[in-house]
Amino acid sequence: MKNILFATSEAVPFIKTGGLADVAGALPKCFDKRYFDIRVILPKYMCMSEEWKSKMEYITNFYMDLGFRSCYVGIFRMEHNGITFYFIDNEHYFSGPKPYDQAPWDLEKFAFFSKAVLSVLPVIDFHPHIIHCHDWQTGLIPVYLHDSFQGGDFFRGIKTIMTIHNLKFQGVWDVSTVKSITGLPSYYFTADKLEAYKDANYLKGGIVYADAITTVSNTYAEEIKTSFYGEGLDGLLCARTNSLRGIVNGIDYDEYNPETDCQIEKNYNAKTFRKEKVKNKIALQKELGLEEDPRKMMIGIVSRLTDQKGFDLIAYIMDELCQDAIQLVVLGTGEERYENMFRHFAWKYRGKVSANIYYSEPMSHKTYASCDAFLMPSLFEPCGLSQLMSLRYGTVPIVRETGGLKDTVQPYNEYESTGTGFSFTNYNAHEMLGVIRNAERIYYDKKREWNKIVDRGMAMDFSWNNSARQYEEMYNWLIGE
Ligand code: ADP
Ligand code: GLC
Repeated sequence: MKNILFATSEAVPFIKTGGLADVAGALPKCFDKRYFDIRVILPKYMCMSEEWKSKMEYITNFYMDLGFRSCYVGIFRMEHNGITFYFIDNEHYFSGPKPYDQAPWDLEKFAFFSKAVLSVLPVIDFHPHIIHCHDWQTGLIPVYLHDSFQGGDFFRGIKTIMTIHNLKFQGVWDVSTVKSITGLPSYYFTADKLEAYKDANYLKGGIVYADAITTVSNTYAEEIKTSFYGEGLDGLLCARTNSLRGIVNGIDYDEYNPETDCQIEKNYNAKTFRKEKVKNKIALQKELGLEEDPRKMMIGIVSRLTDQKGFDLIAYIMDELCQDAIQLVVLGTGEERYENMFRHFAWKYRGKVSANIYYSEPMSHKTYASCDAFLMPSLFEPCGLSQLMSLRYGTVPIVRETGGLKDTVQPYNEYESTGTGFSFTNYNAHEMLGVIRNAERIYYDKKREWNKIVDRGMAMDFSWNNSARQYEEMYNWLIGE
């Protein structure tokens, strides 16, 4: 049996701010249980729902040194869908209203978490062959493993993987503060280790010290070796190119299934969508106060409202787009200027634009199920899950050709009748508008063609099956079998 520990700052169904939680919650279920014992460890945030917290079983606690402090480490445990989840408890660090706040507090919080992950292993008597770390919040795990956990037999030989879900976030602060927060010696704070551009950088530490590095699509794995996408670490990623690979994300096919989804108005599948899917649109139009017209093309957005997702392009052409025969349903939270922009357009184009500035799982399912098309014109996109959810629900993605969007959406070719969505290359608002209008044309004038695009999208397999096998291969290779 090979033991793998996923270390993550979020995982569904316990806590979610973005796609990382979907991955950390769904992927562990998809490994071959005959060969792999995969467990997951994450913080026990006070903002987790009572429903989950009340089901966690208290195991034990101890004190751990972190820099000059001695910190309480509580351990809770829970089985969910056949997977063991461990939760690290410390109310000093994990009591905020949401998982993340700002630096340097978050750096201290996740230095604590990273060191605690290693410290609890002998206590819970789980000896991982591999610790699979996700994003900057766990970047110090390979570093601590190198620094202070190699002495005893227990930790010797443990391998680490660093998976980059988003290179934009690296966990950066000045060296002297980070030295005192982490208790790591000066040795680590040089330009070939944790230091980057005079600051200390957690993700860089993870990339330098991990045995293997992955990211969540092939295209992003290439892109991050260039200066445009490399966020200052492209040189290092080039240097580690032999240890870096892309494995595209999947989605949870049980959770996101239009045939069984109880959060949507009317279930449908690849055979029945032509008749049934539209009933979801009618219900959503009613619910959101949009003009009730089953024929109107409805475009959806479910997203964090940040620059990453291309909202400046949308802002630029909103007025033009709203002259067309479309409806726009937005579900998202994030930067105030984008929240207010959508509120403004919902006011200006009442009945046509619906701005839902909040977070809601049920509303996200309804949006994926109801819309005809889904807009995701990202500036960069490591993988993106929303376009995969859209494909699964027969909602045609309109995307920019970057990262995982490029790898998962095949552009429609009118002459060969191929493709699963619409896409454009340059980060240019009118190039995007042109592609949206092309989609409108096919939707209104060539409905049979449109439905074939939907057919092809729904026939794609973006369950975790393929990608879980690739992770298994990598685990086997790292463990040396
Ligand atoms: P990212 O991780 O960069 O935010 P992804 O496309 O990988 O982007 O994943 C986003 C996830 O968050 C999807 O599951 C999407 O449905 C969900 N999501 C984003 N915003 C909201 C929201 N306001 N309400 C519900 N779900 C949301
Ligand atoms: C990040 C990326 C997104 C990816 C997700 C899960 O949040 O922005 O593209 O799908 O992580 O890997």
